[in-house]
Amino acid sequence: MSKKSSWRSRLSFYLLAIGSACGLGNLWRFPYIVGENGGGAFILMYVFIALTVGLTLLIAELMLGQYFGASILVVSKRVASQQKKPYHLFGWLSLCITAVTLAYYSVISGWVLHYLVQFLMTAFHSLDSSGVAQISMGSLYQNSWLQFLLASVHLLISVVIVVKGFSDGVERWITSLLPLFGLLVIILLVKSLSLDSTPDVLRFLFYPDFSKLTWASLGHAIGHVFFTLSLGFGTMVTFGSYFKTDEHLPGMGFRVAVVDTVISLLAVLLIFPIAFSSSKETLTDPSLLFEVLPQFLSKEKSGMFFGLVFFFCLWLAALNASIGLLETITANLVEKRPDLKRSRSAWISGFAILFITVFPAFSGTLFKNVKLKGHGLIEVLDSFLINGFLPIAGLGMVIISLLALSEIDRKKLFINENSPTSHSMYSHWKFSLKWVVPSAIILGIALQVISFFL
Ligand code: PFF
Repeated sequence: MSKKSSWRSRLSFYLLAIGSACGLGNLWRFPYIVGENGGGAFILMYVFIALTVGLTLLIAELMLGQYFGASILVVSKRVASQQKKPYHLFGWLSLCITAVTLAYYSVISGWVLHYLVQFLMTAFHSLDSSGVAQISMGSLYQNSWLQFLLASVHLLISVVIVVKGFSDGVERWITSLLPLFGLLVIILLVKSLSLDSTPDVLRFLFYPDFSKLTWASLGHAIGHVFFTLSLGFGTMVTFGSYFKTDEHLPGMGFRVAVVDTVISLLAVLLIFPIAFSSSKETLTDPSLLFEVLPQFLSKEKSGMFFGLVFFFCLWLAALNASIGLLETITANLVEKRPDLKRSRSAWISGFAILFITVFPAFSGTLFKNVKLKGHGLIEVLDSFLINGFLPIAGLGMVIISLLALSEIDRKKLFINENSPTSHSMYSHWKFSLKWVVPSAIILGIALQVISFFL
């Protein structure tokens, strides 16, 4: 999408914003983060944070882009020159996080592609279905070249789509495939919830035992909310920049946040009954989805077919999220260097990211000695990036929003005169932006630092 164009319809925005929000974060990352943080109490805290801290920042980022008609680098630079302080560094921080996240996201998307190919081979060569169940994450993790190759394929496809034009191609795909994915998730959910382990799972997920929370849990919840709602990356600023200033975005932000949260909850309801009834002992590591689901499906009637379609849809969701990340980098680059053609800047970004991909892809071999408290590079990267740097970038977004928009501008963008609740919502939102979001972020980071040294 060129910088001057705008959303073709509200539906285009919903599809792309929800598409960017709902990805591996919901189906792959959320379940094992819930496992790591003890279940029910964490889920309660997560939902609360998503609908307070997350929603507040989502609206602020959309409005920031909408007001300036530009992406985060340009916006932060303007604030920096107005205030004569280096606020543009926050813009660069966001962009670096986006680039590293895309590299790491491409590797995980490559894992999905790997499973997809295995299901495809099993389905078409009528191989023994136990073959899929036996693919262990361990052996894939050791095969760095394969991970790099799969990540490159994923990245290449993302670049081609972004070059072709963001909304044109993708929008049609998602429109036709989202309902299929929804249907699939519901069928699997029904199957999963009919397992004997369901009562234990419901207790684990919805009975809040606060003693299971750790010092780091608040930071993990904030980090994951930012990751899943695509906050702190500048993505929502870029999406907001495609809106005209007479649109009111809070309602749209609310719908995106609710849909994303519901999908995360469905994901844990899908994964945990299977995980509880399988032999998998640990619910807390990144291989949870990849080991549990194929094992379950290999024992089910038509499981291979389900697996094939499920992993295909999961990969499309990952692709869509990757496109959101790449679009953010490309849009920032085009605004910074208007002489660069959009297609050129997408290719340059793609190559730069491919280079970063080497680190997560080779984390099991070349970088296997890079360890922190027993965790490998990919987990350390995930933790620092999502639980540490992303909330700091989010704090930067809060500061920039507060400095860049005057009270009058903010009110004009937020308040919809046709909505009776809009005025009162505005004062809640402003309070949350000024006080709740910064305090939660600072507390979350401080508690993680304490837990690190404990
Ligand atoms: N929200 C995505 C997920 O949950 O998988 C990750 C993501 C996509 C973050 C796009 C940022 C972004 F721009």
